[in-house]
Amino acid sequence: MKLPDSLRPGAEKYRKWILNYLDIGRELLYLSQDAVKSIPFTPEETRNAVEKALIAYSAGQVDMPSKIGVHPLTDTFFHAMPAYVPEQFAVGIKWGSCYPENRNNYGIPQAQGLIMLSDHLSGLPLAVLDCKYVTEIRTAAVTYTAIHYLAPKNVETFGMIGVGVEGRQHIKNILTVLPNLNTIYIYDVYEPASDALIFDFQHDIPVKIVRAGSYEELVKNAQVIVSATVAKEGYAPVILDSWVSKGKTILMCEGHTLYEDSIIKRSDKYIVDSREQTEQFKNYGYYPFGYPEIYAETGEIAAGKIPGREDPDELIIANNFGMAVEDMFVVRALFDRALEHSIGIKLPL
Ligand SMILES: NC(=O)c1ccc[n+]([C@@H]2O[C@H](COP(=O)([O-])OP(=O)(O)OC[C@H]3O[C@@H](n4cnc5c(N)ncnc54)[C@H](O)[C@@H]3O)[C@@H](O)[C@H]2O)c1
Repeated sequence: MKLPDSLRPGAEKYRKWILNYLDIGRELLYLSQDAVKSIPFTPEETRNAVEKALIAYSAGQVDMPSKIGVHPLTDTFFHAMPAYVPEQFAVGIKWGSCYPENRNNYGIPQAQGLIMLSDHLSGLPLAVLDCKYVTEIRTAAVTYTAIHYLAPKNVETFGMIGVGVEGRQHIKNILTVLPNLNTIYIYDVYEPASDALIFDFQHDIPVKIVRAGSYEELVKNAQVIVSATVAKEGYAPVILDSWVSKGKTILMCEGHTLYEDSIIKRSDKYIVDSREQTEQFKNYGYYPFGYPEIYAETGEIAAGKIPGREDPDELIIANNFGMAVEDMFVVRALFDRALEHSIGIKLPL
């Protein structure tokens, strides 16, 4: 994909604006995780950026090959995730890893990595930043966007399976998209994670947070269910078909890992962020039983091209596996804000 001639003057103007803060070609901006977190950027701005990213992707307005990966140990991966967004004058790549045993082995989160942002007019590096917080906020924002279009009206019960980094971020602002909640059910195989979440969040969230005693209790009680656990190869489901009634909205951050295949196959609407990427991940072995016909991409629904939920009884499943373009929209905005607020360290090239 090329920069359209019509956008060239805007691209030059943006580059000149960056030069007010950063000597492109001689230095780059480095943003640690703490620096990224300190950039003033609201959850609404994140949601807005991510919704635009989903729409732009599905409208074919970005250059984003499906992520490619290497898999050094069982159930681990590094993904290389490049994207170019002409309209945002943003080009870059995330080099992100997932090592589920990190907590046991090293006492650190499973997801790690860096993002690099470059100048699309000269090819020079502009910034390198920690990717953990960006991944966290943009993934929750994708889920919120999907919930907005796919959940039934007046949802009162929400369930979060896996309350690590992503699960916590998902719960943090869940009321912005499900304002009528009266109970949040959580379930994590690692009990201290649930205890910590209740301790840290309950006083700020005016909704009762209940630690479910089992997957079954959570799944039967929650109308909208999100999971963020571990993306595993193979098939070892823990959520049974008989627990999942019509009318639920199920969103997964780690693919089909937790669910009996028949649940996925009987969904009334099966939605993904990217058709192309979903097919590629099937070829990697992530969906050993395949996946049902894809009803729509999340971006097609957000753009209003295809309706989201149409009937309260529909069982809707959204498998948003994550896309580089979501990172790029958020990172472009964070980079600008960091420059304006003198956040980060300039490193010589
Ligand atoms: N779709 C996306 O865009 C996207 C983005 C980031 C992360 N992810 C995925 O989300 C998942 C969670 O990432 P994270 O950074 O929050 O990891 P994390 O390690 O911080 O949290 C995962 C939590 O899930 C719990 N858990 C593990 N297996 C479980 C199971 N079977 N049932 C219940 N709980 C279980 C763990 O104890 C842990 O507390 C990973 O699979 C990651 O690959 C997806």
